[in-house]
Amino acid sequence: MPENIIWRPTTVTRLERSNQNGHKSAVLWFTGLSGSGKSTIAHAVEEKLFQIGCQTVVLDGDNVRHGLCADLGFSDQDRTENIRRIGETTKLFVEAGIITLTAFISPFGADREKVRNLFMPGEFLEIHCRCALDCCEQRDVKGFYQKARAGEIKEFTGISSPYEAPENPELVLHTDQSSVEECVQKVMHLLQQRCIIPFD
Ligand code: ADX
Repeated sequence: MPENIIWRPTTVTRLERSNQNGHKSAVLWFTGLSGSGKSTIAHAVEEKLFQIGCQTVVLDGDNVRHGLCADLGFSDQDRTENIRRIGETTKLFVEAGIITLTAFISPFGADREKVRNLFMPGEFLEIHCRCALDCCEQRDVKGFYQKARAGEIKEFTGISSPYEAPENPELVLHTDQSSVEECVQKVMHLLQQRCIIPFD
């Protein structure tokens, strides 16, 4: 707890925000290997939510590392700090009533757990984009796997840095077997089941 800093509660409440928006806020925390489809699915879900009038934002690893986290690399410590900052940022958005979709590898279970603990039960939905390493490597959208195999990129997740799969995620998307549209439908269904958004 910081010294001489007193928490200032908001006067507009979460309930007032969700009543006005017509939906609750929550975190959709996409985790998975590079190239597993986190960002593609997060943006596709956001489009669907936007179409039905929801307040949304996507925080994406590649973008956030251009600004807020531009000083961080890919050591274990830097990844932990990256996820801590994103967790705190996500909390601000969720408190503002916004459905927040995050697309970060977030390879360490303990870091994801710390973010989960920032939220009320049911607000943090962990979504594992499960895709075999072979498949991510074949896709190699950014050419990074080839560079990592050649040793040109150090500490690359799945090659020379670990990925700890979630043990009890709210949803697993088999992104090497299902289409983007099927994955989007599963996420939308989860949001309805959890009463974040209304049923059609
Ligand atoms: S995380 O591990 O800290 O969660 P984050 O999601 O922000 O990672 O960034 C991952 C993105 O950075 C990848 O999609 C990839 O484009 C790029 N990248 C560059 N170097 C690495 C690396 N060594 N390991 C993983 N991703 C890397």
